[in-house]
Amino acid sequence: MAANERTFIVFLGPPGSGKGTQARILEKKLGLPQVATGDLFRYNLKNETELGLLAKRYMDAGDLVPDEVTIRMVEERLSREDCAPGAILDGFPRNLHQAVALDEMLASYGGVTVVPLFIVDDDTVVARISGRRVCRNCGAVYHVEFNPPRQDNICDACGSELYQRDDDRPETVKNRLYVYYKQTGPLIGYYFAKGLLEEVDAMQPVDDVTAALEAALAKRGVTV
Ligand code: AP5
Repeated sequence: MAANERTFIVFLGPPGSGKGTQARILEKKLGLPQVATGDLFRYNLKNETELGLLAKRYMDAGDLVPDEVTIRMVEERLSREDCAPGAILDGFPRNLHQAVALDEMLASYGGVTVVPLFIVDDDTVVARISGRRVCRNCGAVYHVEFNPPRQDNICDACGSELYQRDDDRPETVKNRLYVYYKQTGPLIGYYFAKGLLEEVDAMQPVDDVTAALEAALAKRGVTV
């Protein structure tokens, strides 16, 4: 690897496929920060920034936040010190325009390293999203059935209250899936053509998905 090369992992997959869950596990193991655009928008919303209020309009409908705003936000995030070794990109890019912008941002660092594609069927996505609960304070993710907290509605990690995301309502989930297939779907071909795609069976229990993901990353020289 050249001295200026860094590791940039792009998680690709539908909403609810487990990208955030796996990014949180792998960031510790790989020493790479999770850069999750959805979390960045939610952080801004919690702090009532202009960006957060703008993003809310799109997120509540399940639509993509405009590229100009999103790309600028990611560029700023990747320029921070903790991204010096690289990052796990969770939720970005989400369309071809964003993918090209990311390639430009990373051109001097060797580009994207690998793109794990989370394979899961639509019924599983709906079941996972409808039972998801998130910690208001630290953002830890749970599922009422598949990954419940020890105590109902209380975060294991920090003891704060759990909540259901506004965009996890059934009507919004349908549009998020539609947007995924229409706008993010073409990225599968984009990264396949670049030889960066690695399929991961994301229908399995969390630990097994982690193992499959680690095996996929190892094929590209990224080891835990
Ligand atoms: P974002 O927050 O990125 O949402 P998403 O991509 O729809 O992904 P999710 O967070 O819903 O799912 P996930 O794959 O991370 O699954 P998770 O690990 O939580 O984006 C939200 C919105 O922000 C977008 O709609 C858009 O408006 C905007 N936005 C974001 N990025 C943007 C961009 N680049 N451009 C423009 N707009 C953008 O898991 C789901 C559930 O399943 C959890 O309950 C979990 O506990 C459970 N689970 C996980 N793995 C398993 C397993 N293996 N078995 C059983 N249960 C599991």
